[in-house]
Amino acid sequence: MEGQEITREAALSREDHKHACHLLLYADTGAKLFGKIPIKHIVLMQMRFDGLLGFPGGLVKPSEESLEAGLTRELQEEVGVPVAVTADDYVSSHLAPAPPCLITHFYTKKIEEAELIDIERAAVATAADHGLEVLGMVRVPLYTLRNGGGLPWFLSHSFISNSRAQLLEALQRLGLVPLRALEEAVRQADVRRA
Ligand code: GTP
Ligand code: MN
Ligand code: MN
Ligand code: MN
Ligand code: MN
Ligand code: MN
Repeated sequence: MEGQEITREAALSREDHKHACHLLLYADTGAKLFGKIPIKHIVLMQMRFDGLLGFPGGLVKPSEESLEAGLTRELQEEVGVPVAVTADDYVSSHLAPAPPCLITHFYTKKIEEAELIDIERAAVATAADHGLEVLGMVRVPLYTLRNGGGLPWFLSHSFISNSRAQLLEALQRLGLVPLRALEEAVRQADVRRA
């Protein structure tokens, strides 16, 4: 993945670095696109104020709060509900390529579909950052249609820092997209981005 991976312990010893924590929330679903294409999973990202896609979360202060407490605070601001994130949800830490001297900590959490829909509603109705730092939550299309629509186009957009790599790592590790389909979607997206 883009940006060097670093252990959580090594990351926390870097007092000269800023730390950010972000979360991929997902749920299983029986919903079908056009009444026939099984969607299987719902994965949430957000459109940020700067026009880039990223995950909910933000800067945390390890000297004042745990990574998980800081992430929970950011989620309250950005999605408007308390999402209890624990060390069990931790995935990885990376030295971010941009901005320099930033370490990005990544989490994933599986929830029920009904809970995810409540979060989407709260993100509009009660989140303090809605319309400001966050322009809206978006669902990631995980399928590839015959005309190349879906995940390949989604991956052609622009992403903040190494969030695109975080998304790809999670889709693979959690088995949310079959590996062959994921590789092909990345290949098609890279052709469109070139
Ligand atoms: P403020 O409340 O304005 O301070 O923003 P924030 O705390 O919500 O910070 P933000 O979510 O923008 O994250 C801080 C930094 O982490 C950003 O400047 C980006 O460089 C980076 N970043 C933002 N979103 C993501 C993400 O989803 N993944 C990764 N890897 N980095 C991100
Ligand atoms: Mn329609
Ligand atoms: Mn913040
Ligand atoms: Mn924030
Ligand atoms: Mn944020
Ligand atoms: Mn803020």
